[in-house]
Amino acid sequence: MTHITTIIKNRAIAYMALFCFVPSTHAQKIPPANYDESKVPHYVLPDVLTCNDGQRVTTKSEWEHKRRPEILETFYSLEYGRTPKEKIKVTYTLIEENPNALGGLATMQQVRLRFEGNGRHINTLLLAFIPNARKGRVPVMIGYNFKGIHSITPDESILYSPYFASLTNRADPVLERGNQTSRWPLEMIMQRGYALVTMCYHDFFPDNAKGRPESAAALFSDYQGNPLPEDAWQALGVWAWGSSRIADWVEQQPWADKDRLAIMGHSRQGKAALWAGAQDTRFRVVISNDSGCGGAALSKRVYGETVAIITNAFPHWFCPAFSRFAQKEESLPFDQHELIALMAPRHVYVASAKEDNWADQRGEFLAAYHAGPVFELYGLQGLGTDKMPDIHQPIMHRVGYHIRAGKHDVTDYDWKCYLDFCDKAWKEK
Ligand code: GCU
Repeated sequence: MTHITTIIKNRAIAYMALFCFVPSTHAQKIPPANYDESKVPHYVLPDVLTCNDGQRVTTKSEWEHKRRPEILETFYSLEYGRTPKEKIKVTYTLIEENPNALGGLATMQQVRLRFEGNGRHINTLLLAFIPNARKGRVPVMIGYNFKGIHSITPDESILYSPYFASLTNRADPVLERGNQTSRWPLEMIMQRGYALVTMCYHDFFPDNAKGRPESAAALFSDYQGNPLPEDAWQALGVWAWGSSRIADWVEQQPWADKDRLAIMGHSRQGKAALWAGAQDTRFRVVISNDSGCGGAALSKRVYGETVAIITNAFPHWFCPAFSRFAQKEESLPFDQHELIALMAPRHVYVASAKEDNWADQRGEFLAAYHAGPVFELYGLQGLGTDKMPDIHQPIMHRVGYHIRAGKHDVTDYDWKCYLDFCDKAWKEK
């Protein structure tokens, strides 16, 4: 084990040393996104079942004890940064409960989760809908919202998420109640017998380049400001960590079935959902909706959004080491199929939208496909085909995939597929 750790560390150090002398592309001109399939470079994906020392994985045990930890280490050191292990003190306060929400379909709870550490604290606000028609414990969908808990339904009693509560202009359109309802079909979710637990993603890390000192990262005793270490965790890492903290709360609820937890994230939250699922095996189903670059899409295809574009536009999402691969995707010693493979043998679902070229739909599909060998090691079926399905033809094996008509968004069609996939997953064990 020590030997393996040394190899992994040596690799990481070698990559960092290599890039220390290479000027960041941020000062250079960033090429625009390519949308021409014929211009996708020839690329070779690292084999998910070949260890860093060349050993070929043939058993579940080799995967679990050797290859899986080394892939995880690669993502810690080169893409999302290192999640600290320290436990942060948390206090839960039920702020409001309405047993007759959504016209009687659900019980609604608003709960404050206060995290304290390193002489600071942050307050986050969670919103839960629990189906009233339940018999016993229910499966739970966990997912961040982008625009505050007040945005997912027009209910006047829902508080503003902390990030938005401070806005003084009450006429600001972002404060309009229910401005994101189309992404959260609560009636459908309740009727299917699932609880929904959501929080605004800004609560754990305000999504801007100056957000880090205000984020949950600053609660840890080893918090470091600038200059950031190459493997410092940033927003995606903190959002993933935050999902696990929401799962901690969910697990304690008398109505929740902790063996049926699913996480769903859209776009940047699809990236964070995959990273959360990779680290926290309590998420039995992991769903990435239109997550694109740094999520489900293969970086080496250099199609749509690229490493250079994303790390330039969102310098606070990934660990600094990731930006060293800008315009050097061919030298990445990993790719996103390996992130998806980390869910095995649990269930993972990737979805794309026909008009969402920015997220590279084919790259999302292929990453899900190339994760397959790890599922097969468990005698399970991955996607089972390298031919991309037509729109509205979902594939639902241990790995799921669909592409739907329309643009970058979350629609009722997506939710219906996710709930079907989860229903199927719970039966499979
Ligand atoms: C931008 C970004 C994407 C991200 C998306 C989103 O488009 O470039 O990487 O997925 O925002 O989160 O909506």
